[in-house]
Amino acid sequence: MSKWLKSYRENHADFIQPASIEKLPLDPFEAFTLWFDEAVQSMELEANACVLSTYAPQSQQVSSRTLYLKEMLDQQFIFYTNYNSKKAKDLHAHPKASLLFFWPKLMRQIRIEGSVIRVSETISDAYFATRPRESQLGAWASQQSEKIQSRQKLLDQYKLLDARFPDVVPRPAHWGGFSMTANYLEFWQGQTSRLHERRAYYLEKNIWQSKLLQP
Ligand SMILES: Cc1cc2nc3c(=O)[nH]c(=O)nc-3n(C[C@H](O)[C@H](O)[C@H](O)COP(=O)(O)O)c2cc1C
Repeated sequence: MSKWLKSYRENHADFIQPASIEKLPLDPFEAFTLWFDEAVQSMELEANACVLSTYAPQSQQVSSRTLYLKEMLDQQFIFYTNYNSKKAKDLHAHPKASLLFFWPKLMRQIRIEGSVIRVSETISDAYFATRPRESQLGAWASQQSEKIQSRQKLLDQYKLLDARFPDVVPRPAHWGGFSMTANYLEFWQGQTSRLHERRAYYLEKNIWQSKLLQP
């Protein structure tokens, strides 16, 4: 591994000329949709992958992991996971978290901070029903974040569940969605000049305001 890695921009001639952040819509959710769609169009790998950071009050420790944003619905950011996992335990104990998107081709980052609650069982049921059978059985088979003796144990468990649910796989009660209500969103645009641009959206008396920040 070389000591000083170059950024994507320095290695790729196809780097797209950055847009100015001042042209972003006044509504942060419109701005998010705009950038998200551009990330998909630019063929960013895993454009819907983001980093969720949570806080565990007992250990006073912050932890992060990647997950997929499923959708933005009514200005809520929705993702799915195991309700017994480490992240879910953190969220149940401390329902504030952050989501971070990084799209290197566009040299863009979006930070989102807010409060998290479970989505309704109806919403989780509806999404679970659309998932591939393998993912549905995986949600049953994996006691996410728990210790496992061997990978074979997981495969054996999967086989048993495959036989138990020959037809429709119901949603396990321990699997479902969380939705984040944002109170802060920040957009970062890298510039070739290195004078990068940041724009923060925040709520003031329940109305979204925005300001430019120094990079
Ligand atoms: C690209 C990518 C997407 C992922 N998507 C999800 C997801 O949507 N839900 C999920 O629970 N874990 C997802 N994971 C796995 C998590 O990063 C993590 O390993 C797992 O959820 C356990 O985290 P925890 O022990 O902190 O709860 C994904 C990992 C990667 C690398």
